[in-house]
Amino acid sequence: MVTGKTTIIGVIGDPIAHSLSPAMHNAAIEALGLDWCYVAFRVSSDRVREAVVGVRGLNIRGINVTVPHKQAVMPFLDEVSDEASAIGAVNTIKHEDGRLIGYNTDVYGIRAALRYGTGLHPLPPEVVVLGAGGAARGIVYALAGCEGVERLTILNRTVEKAERLAEEMLAGAASTGPVEIEAHSLDPGDVRAALKSAGLIINATSVGMHPQVDDTIIDDPDAFCEGQLLLDTVYNPRQTRLMAVAQCGGARAVNGIDMLVYQGAKSFEIWTGMSPPVDVMRGAIEGHPS
Ligand code: ATR
Repeated sequence: MVTGKTTIIGVIGDPIAHSLSPAMHNAAIEALGLDWCYVAFRVSSDRVREAVVGVRGLNIRGINVTVPHKQAVMPFLDEVSDEASAIGAVNTIKHEDGRLIGYNTDVYGIRAALRYGTGLHPLPPEVVVLGAGGAARGIVYALAGCEGVERLTILNRTVEKAERLAEEMLAGAASTGPVEIEAHSLDPGDVRAALKSAGLIINATSVGMHPQVDDTIIDDPDAFCEGQLLLDTVYNPRQTRLMAVAQCGGARAVNGIDMLVYQGAKSFEIWTGMSPPVDVMRGAIEGHPS
């Protein structure tokens, strides 16, 4: 029950009505018996400053930030973590004694999903990332710093964007470690060549997400092979068409639920200082009608 003493946390984004974060965080709150409540706020792009300043004004303990505001919130924060500033996106804000601190827990989310969710450790030397947008940035940054990864290939419809991302990540190599980063297009020849020697393929685009469930960024099962793992960051539907294509080619495939759960778990830990009940959070997502 919400009382006069209840601590408020939440999420801002637009659209936000279909976010699974309230279900996931409120399940964690309940499991730990906290007098906290997680609320979804629909915030339009012209109100981002007011929303962030309002976190301080209303004494909200912290918020998640989702599409399309992950970059827009940054100028209004008092401090931004090294990871978040290297990626150029904040997905978690903590309010501490009047100070607003920005973090990016998507980095932890992808690393933990791979380590605990797939058992892939160390990671294979060759990894392919599909896409070069905001989500891909965080994934390329996170993987470049992972044990085992020697070469990252970014494949994107607009090859110039993939090249820019590769250059930018290489320029920040001090933080990303000794990896090669290449950029190519999504032409069938480029896809086959890149996937041939890859152990891990990550779809960092939203292609295939509800309601466009018949879309897939690669439709050639022969581009995949046994021994590979495809991680699709899409989790609605649970089984995407891309996952089916990869499985048809002999690869193993997982969806983005673990990534969502682990990024949320890390945000929860940042706000509460408590160990997050990860299984409860996953259960809330899996039990949610999609
Ligand atoms: P996000 O923050 O979710 O990553 P974004 O920054 O708009 O969103 O990036 C979307 C990514 O999905 C881009 O890599 C985009 O490719 P382009 O750079 O060529 O636009 C990719 N994308 C979106 N729709 C696509 C489609 N139908 N086919 C292939 N790639 C697509």
